[in-house]
Amino acid sequence: MTNIILLGPPGAGKGTQARRLVEERGMVHLSTGDMLREARTSGTEMGRKVAEVMDRGDLVTDEIVIGLIEEKLAGENARGFIFDGFPRTLAQADALGALLKRSGNRLDAVIEMRVDDEALVERISGRFTCGQCGEVYHDKTRPTKAEGVCDECGSTDLRRRADDNAESLKTRLMEYYKKTSPLIGYYYHAGDLFTVDGLAEIDQVAKAIANVLDQAKSS
Ligand code: AP5
Repeated sequence: MTNIILLGPPGAGKGTQARRLVEERGMVHLSTGDMLREARTSGTEMGRKVAEVMDRGDLVTDEIVIGLIEEKLAGENARGFIFDGFPRTLAQADALGALLKRSGNRLDAVIEMRVDDEALVERISGRFTCGQCGEVYHDKTRPTKAEGVCDECGSTDLRRRADDNAESLKTRLMEYYKKTSPLIGYYYHAGDLFTVDGLAEIDQVAKAIANVLDQAKSS
């Protein structure tokens, strides 16, 4: 069982690579962003507050996201977890370590996906996803084969995210550099950190991640 974290700024390609790992290796994808997007449609007071925070580009409280992950880990017996967008703060990193330890598991690799800000803006502004199966596309780098139709499931429910605009992205990047990037040092110190070039083409990034997984497995 291999447990990994995909760590990187908004638009680094975490979701894109996580979906490939699910397909190719049968791992379970745990994205706190996806969980929170589901929570915001619940019609509850909590959902309404979460929506406001996400649309601004700020971080949701540690308490809420740690609770979501705890719930998922308790209900899954997986061949390995991909943590995507979690942890995002030092408190979340400590909580994840404790949760894994409690269930007799460990973290095998933290993969930092490095992409410069200019490319992130380009990626975020062109992104759209399938509302039915979650497949991720881009206007220029990964368009659908038939316009307006998902390649994977044939749905025409293609959506853009409410927080994929210039103002929210600025806040999301600031939150990343202020609260999440210290995790690079945290995991480097723990000996778990691997870095891949997230600016490479999607297939090349996937290869680099596969190499890290092989390395982590044999260590
Ligand atoms: P979340 O959903 O986690 O968003 P994010 O971290 O901002 O990351 P993204 O989903 O935007 O990007 P990605 O790295 O997955 O890139 P993708 O593969 O889509 O979080 C959203 C919000 O929820 C947060 O702002 C916060 O409010 C809240 N939240 C979530 N988790 C939280 C937590 N733990 N604590 C507190 N709050 C939390 O790719 C982007 C685009 O680029 C796509 O169009 C894709 O096709 C394209 N692309 C991908 N790879 C490449 C490549 N190699 N070359 C060219 N194009 C590429």
